[in-house]
Amino acid sequence: MIIVTGGSGQAGRACLKDLIAHGHEVCSVDLAPPADPSIRHSRVDLTDYGQTIAAFSAIDDRVSSQVTGIVHLAAIRAPGLAPNHVIFETNTVSTYNVFEAARQLKIRNIVWASSETVLGLPFANPPPYVPVDEEYPGRPETAYSLSKLMGEEMAKQFCRWDPETKIFGLRLSNVMDPERYAEFPGFDDDPRKRNWNLWAYIDARDAAQAIRLAFDSKLTGADVFVIANADGVMSQPNDALLDAVYPGVPHKRAFGPNETLLSIEKARRVLGYEPRHSWRDHKAG
Ligand SMILES: NC(=O)c1ccc[n+]([C@@H]2O[C@H](COP(=O)([O-])OP(=O)(O)OC[C@H]3O[C@@H](n4cnc5c(N)ncnc54)[C@H](O)[C@@H]3O)[C@@H](O)[C@H]2O)c1
Repeated sequence: MIIVTGGSGQAGRACLKDLIAHGHEVCSVDLAPPADPSIRHSRVDLTDYGQTIAAFSAIDDRVSSQVTGIVHLAAIRAPGLAPNHVIFETNTVSTYNVFEAARQLKIRNIVWASSETVLGLPFANPPPYVPVDEEYPGRPETAYSLSKLMGEEMAKQFCRWDPETKIFGLRLSNVMDPERYAEFPGFDDDPRKRNWNLWAYIDARDAAQAIRLAFDSKLTGADVFVIANADGVMSQPNDALLDAVYPGVPHKRAFGPNETLLSIEKARRVLGYEPRHSWRDHKAG
């Protein structure tokens, strides 16, 4: 049984569908009910430690002691959706509660949603180099992003306390359902419409794939992975976009004209992640 926190949300819905399709038994815990009534669900406020450890222990017949891991996606999902201190408190405390409840129950397989924002979004200052990757220290610019960096730091310490634990944080790019792809050509006339995340995105189904691969990984310890699609949202080539917004930014390596500037090389190498979807195919189809 895998517990998915935030299963009623955008990424959670895709993740549950993908895990079920791959034969996993799942239970969603979320403040909100799932849109799909066939999903096993329990209403849990993860900012409350008592509720969190209770839910991970047993919820009637929905959650037994056979919890094999946690996918932690619940959060206030972006800057601005609540006052800064509410976002910071909600996300930091709920992530602590999830890690701590799992530790007490000896649930040692945890995958959770960090965020691309840790890379320095909205890139009001240029990135140190492109493509950006996991190799430079976090640059949170918002309370939301700071809450995600706190989660990454907590993961390191929890894994130091128990080296058999795995806590993989996925620095998800901007999650997109395919219905949004019709909007993408509208970005193309202005490089500044989407430079805030270096013109990247992640198809919700590929986010779900990355979560599953991270969950299935036999590695231990804390680690983070940038998760984006293989391409960006623009038809304009990267060189033109970078010249327009970040002239002179160093290139860490050669990259293709429409290749993602949020590097997914580490996720490819370590997790075997390979995005299967592109808005370009959707447009053509
Ligand atoms: N959507 C994006 O573009 C994006 C990008 C990067 C990272 N992320 C991260 O991915 C995760 C999932 O994002 P999403 O887009 O699916 O968000 P979402 O808002 O669609 O879903 C989040 C879910 O968390 C639940 N939740 C919030 N607070 C809770 C609490 N205290 N207890 C229990 N449940 C609670 C909400 O009810 C909601 O169903 C989040 O951690 C978010 O920060 C999202």
